[in-house]
Amino acid sequence: MTARLNVNIDHVATVRQARRAPEPSVIAAAMICELAGADGITVHLRGDRRHIQDSDVRLLRESVITYLNLEMAATEEMLKVALDSRPNAVTLVAENPNEITTEGGLDVKANLSIVRAGVNRLREGGILSSLFIDPDMPQIEAAHEVNAQQVELCTSAYAHATLGATGIHGEGSLRAKHELRRLREAATLASQYGLHVAAGHGLTYRNVGHVAEISEITEFNIGHNIVARAVFVGLDQAVREMLSAIRTA
Ligand code: PXP
Repeated sequence: MTARLNVNIDHVATVRQARRAPEPSVIAAAMICELAGADGITVHLRGDRRHIQDSDVRLLRESVITYLNLEMAATEEMLKVALDSRPNAVTLVAENPNEITTEGGLDVKANLSIVRAGVNRLREGGILSSLFIDPDMPQIEAAHEVNAQQVELCTSAYAHATLGATGIHGEGSLRAKHELRRLREAATLASQYGLHVAAGHGLTYRNVGHVAEISEITEFNIGHNIVARAVFVGLDQAVREMLSAIRTA
């Protein structure tokens, strides 16, 4: 079975917020992604609201018919947004105020009680709870311990290792192979614990193939590279090309 693709449309909102203008519409973007065959839409509501806004989450909930995944920090403010808007899934992420993008996985092991409380409230609200973690065994055990239903494995170390390395797409380098092995082992353990396994961050048309070969991974969340390509070829084609890169793996 091939993995599902949720398109992260944060950076459509980044372009809009650059001018605080009404365009480009994230709702239109979500509709185009769905029509192109995406299995879901992902957005990250950040504490500083630098791209996605609260009103986007509400409007997306009303318009997305496939699957809506909301990424957010495990704060009281964000839990309230999630429980009011009821996305299909919430992915809890680590968030630092000055980061350019999410810098790594949530340290579930070091924050067991906060994460457990967040997971419980999401589950009580009928929302699937996913934890964005580094592909490390103790984090997977902790995710299981706090009763999460899914883990999203952070692929940024793998993605980084494929940049500028040897091999046609860099994916042949020793470090990339090592990072791929970490992802494979983490996916196996998570699935043995009965967790759904997603993956994402830094994935591109060039490096997604090897990750998509890991059969336990059933969902990808990919944003920046799709939106970057959409600037040149249009969003419909950019989504179709990513679906094909995942499916031909
Ligand atoms: N998954 C999570 C948890 C993220 O925070 C992000 C970035 O917002 C992504 C996936 C998508 O990463 P990228 O934009 O690099 O594809």
